Amino acid sequence: MCGIAGYVGSGLAQPVLLGGLKRLEYRGYDSAGVAELTGMELAVTKAVGRISELEKRLTESGATIGIAHTRWATHGVPSEPNAHPHVAGKLALVHNGIIENYRSIRDVLARRGVTFTSDTDTEVLAQLVNTEVDRKKREGVDRPLAEGVRAALREVRGTFGIVVLSADYPGMLVAARRGSPLVIGYGDGEHLVASDTSALLGRTRRVVYLEDDEMAEITADDVRLETLDAQPVKRKATKISGKLDDVQKQGYAHFMLKEIYEQPEVLHDAIRGRLRPDTGTAKLGGVNLTDDELRDIDQVVLIGCGTALYAGQVAAYWLEKLARVPATAVVASEWRYRNPIVSERTLCVALSQSGETADTLAAIREAKAKGARTIGVINVIGSTIAREVADGGTYIHAGPEIGVASSKAFTNMLGVLLLLALQIGRVRNLSEAAGAAIAKAAAELPEIMASQLKHRDEVAAAAKRYHGTRDALYLGRGLTYPMALEGALKLKEISYVHAEAYPAGEMKHGPIALVDPKLLAVVLAPQNALYEKTKSNLEEIRAREGSVLTVTTEGNRDLDGLADAVLEVPKVHEVLEPFVLAIPLQLFAYEMAVTRGTDVDMPRNLAKSVTVE
Ligand code: M6R
Repeated sequence: MCGIAGYVGSGLAQPVLLGGLKRLEYRGYDSAGVAELTGMELAVTKAVGRISELEKRLTESGATIGIAHTRWATHGVPSEPNAHPHVAGKLALVHNGIIENYRSIRDVLARRGVTFTSDTDTEVLAQLVNTEVDRKKREGVDRPLAEGVRAALREVRGTFGIVVLSADYPGMLVAARRGSPLVIGYGDGEHLVASDTSALLGRTRRVVYLEDDEMAEITADDVRLETLDAQPVKRKATKISGKLDDVQKQGYAHFMLKEIYEQPEVLHDAIRGRLRPDTGTAKLGGVNLTDDELRDIDQVVLIGCGTALYAGQVAAYWLEKLARVPATAVVASEWRYRNPIVSERTLCVALSQSGETADTLAAIREAKAKGARTIGVINVIGSTIAREVADGGTYIHAGPEIGVASSKAFTNMLGVLLLLALQIGRVRNLSEAAGAAIAKAAAELPEIMASQLKHRDEVAAAAKRYHGTRDALYLGRGLTYPMALEGALKLKEISYVHAEAYPAGEMKHGPIALVDPKLLAVVLAPQNALYEKTKSNLEEIRAREGSVLTVTTEGNRDLDGLADAVLEVPKVHEVLEPFVLAIPLQLFAYEMAVTRGTDVDMPRNLAKSVTVE
């Protein structure tokens, strides 16, 4: 969603800020802006649309301090007045998050004569901060900028990651967070602040993450950390990994394509050293539960949104099949409000690529508050969920995922969840022989997936054939049902083709009414224990003249007369089918999007990390 970059040092601020914003582009945005301070002169430049539009309006100012922002509209349409930074008096402020009580604050300020030029909650916050900074100045307190920010934040409800710059206090940025991430980068005679470490890459690797209810006074030479309650905070800088290459396309047409092609390598990285093929188990370092504690679990709740939720649905099948423990995948935004039933024997697993998804974060907090055991399965190192999920957590090591539509984070999340199912399974019901068969087959997955990626042309041909499709119905059974959900999500996200998914057996209970020659049915029918049942559903569609694209096992000729187009996947252990299905489903969505000319990496209206509820 929104992105923040800030800089103070002896170098030119503008290139650092623009470079930072560009590396945050993937988060999704609709407008952007920069505030720079040259001497005591505050200059703000904004543009609707891409950062390139903003760049066209900027001239090098010589400023060595500034803040910048990409906005994803929540309150008010995408427009210049609504874009950040927001100016109030002599200060400028950028904000990620939502100020819930902004209307009442706005009314109070308006009665005092403050006028507003935008529809945003952020402008209200900027005006409130300005009022409080002026008050602190009149009272003659030390550090009026920091104290004014602190006083203003006492008044607000909601979430914020903010950075403030003031012409009255040149050479200083004040940052604060509650619920929206901020990270401070320590450079040589300079400091940076950003909502995401990718904005810092290429400039520094030494960082300090702000925790909730903390603030920082940042100058070129110093960072002073405190809580919002004015308690000093001491925290050592940590080193971030990641390369600038990770956030560049490296010759691929799109980040998503690059990330699809990275899957064999990153899956290998995620399972290497953790999978124990000989004993049929796995050891996930961050899962701080003893074997006895794992045996004691009486239910597993997998919590996520979107693609992470579907990875959870696959894992629920695995956990029940391999570990014989009741497991359910739940929609984070629903589960947290239904007074969930958990106990100290419930294991709640927060699934999130970004580790910042507001709904997942809120749900795992609810699980913890109710006494459940909690762990996270997260991609972004140091993200809020990764740091907050106290009982333990494990990283999926997919590397930065820039394309808004998740690909490699999905398969790596599956990889780590399979390891979790094996680890729990082996201390419960899973025999060594059964575990070893799966673990050995899993170790071969990266190579198998690499060979699948050589068949992109076949998928592109199918996409060419179906590029005019308006509606698609994805069908799967058992483990292939969540893959149908994921395939349909990918297609709708990036190609804007309406797509939904059903368990194949449910089709005749309603969706069959949709079947006609214009509907594309994508039937996931690998030759597994449920194959014959799925084939019957396929025949039902065929009998009603629906067009069918099927994904089945290599060499299966059984469906030749029943499907218009066939994509093949290698024969693997039945439990591992989701991995090999992911590749053609992702490539099909990608090729459909390319033939339809949509913006693959930054699809309309979507944000990479959804930090509002
Ligand atoms: O960062 P998270 O994994 O928590 O994100 C969850 C969803 O927002 C995300 O998976 C979304 O559905 C993607 N755009 C899917 O491609």
